[in-house]
Amino acid sequence: MLKSLIILIIVSSSQEKLSQESDNVLNFISQAGYQGAAYHTATEDSGWIVKIHRIFPKRETTETMPVFLMHGILSNSVDYVITGKNKALAYLLADNNFDVFMGNSRGSRHSFIDRKTANYSNLWNFSFNEIGTYDVAAMIDYVLRLTGKSKLFYVGHSQGTSSLLALLSNRPEYNSKIIQAHFFSPVAFMKYLPNPFARKLVVPFIDICIKNNVKYLNFKEIVTAISPVTKVICDVSMNPFWSELCKLPFFMFTGSNKDNLEIDSDLLLYLTDHTSPFLSVQQMDHFLQLYRSGKFRKYDYGKDNVWIYGTLEPPDYILSNVKIPTYIYRATEDYLSSQKDIDHLINWLPNVKYNRIIPNYNHADFNYGSRSRQVLYYDVLHFLQSN
Ligand SMILES: *[C@@H]1O[C@H](CO)[C@@H](O)[C@H](O)[C@H]1NC(C)=O
Ligand SMILES: *[C@@H]1O[C@H](CO)[C@@H](O)[C@H](O)[C@H]1NC(C)=O
Repeated sequence: MLKSLIILIIVSSSQEKLSQESDNVLNFISQAGYQGAAYHTATEDSGWIVKIHRIFPKRETTETMPVFLMHGILSNSVDYVITGKNKALAYLLADNNFDVFMGNSRGSRHSFIDRKTANYSNLWNFSFNEIGTYDVAAMIDYVLRLTGKSKLFYVGHSQGTSSLLALLSNRPEYNSKIIQAHFFSPVAFMKYLPNPFARKLVVPFIDICIKNNVKYLNFKEIVTAISPVTKVICDVSMNPFWSELCKLPFFMFTGSNKDNLEIDSDLLLYLTDHTSPFLSVQQMDHFLQLYRSGKFRKYDYGKDNVWIYGTLEPPDYILSNVKIPTYIYRATEDYLSSQKDIDHLINWLPNVKYNRIIPNYNHADFNYGSRSRQVLYYDVLHFLQSN
């Protein structure tokens, strides 16, 4: 069953272009009363072109500094604006005169393919390693050129932390372009992956994809198919039982806090409309490999490792290369990033300035939690301003 489902997805997705829908993030920004812009930049290793969203500072001063926000897996820059004007991180930063830039990874909703330079057989051969080493690098360089500044602040969530670690390990010269890095729910070592659903459902699913040599997976069809159903079931005006039920799959994967108060049902609905169902199998598989090996290392290409890396095993990331001041924020109810693994990461990172554990908070609350401004963002702002 699983196998035919996968084949069905592949067949239907192969006919679909990565569409250029109207820019939902720019719409959010203007609806909230801010001035936005979008830019594109090519990546040096592939035909992917990635998009950067910007929110101009409320007031530009001589001290105005760029902040770059990088999203996690299955999502895009919408993470930093979706909860709206008085809640989302990007607006708080713009209100405080930061020049806010939000990146988008290859494969996500806002990326597209340059038909002239793309090699289609190689397009989905990527993970957070390429997202960091090429996409984040290109976007940081773009922002610095555009603003004329020599450095910026970095905030990343989940995969947005793994990708920066990969970048700094692979290209340590990027340390000099970043003033501080703020890590929401960092993902590097995954040995103690807490999530039983990920271990029991996602791991076998990805294994089947890899065994069948499926180069990429497109979740868009599934999401589109279930979207009308979720719209009915999760209608906020319906009775509370149904709205609780519709939160369930979401919390199964990100972690539940005791009362599930942080995320509204209507926001969840919204998320299915605005996040990115595009994903490469290798992107998931790389995380799965980290879980199995207990190591934070490059993608394991199996017998091709010798050709690609010159060694039988993929090399570890060099965390001693991550020299920038690092601020860690972690959640007690996080299903995807365990306390033990984060402790292990902190032991390896040479310049951790701050390590905060947020109680009754989960993996998704960092972006979508209704109280995140009070709980988390003021804390981040304080460090950006005190620099
Ligand atoms: C995938 O990417 C790696 C690293 O960039 C490269 O060495 C390898 O040849 C690629 N494999 C395929 C099948 O394109
Ligand atoms: C495209 O990528 C494949 C797989 O990495 C490689 O074998 C092939 O030579 C590439 N084609 C071109 C035109 O670069």
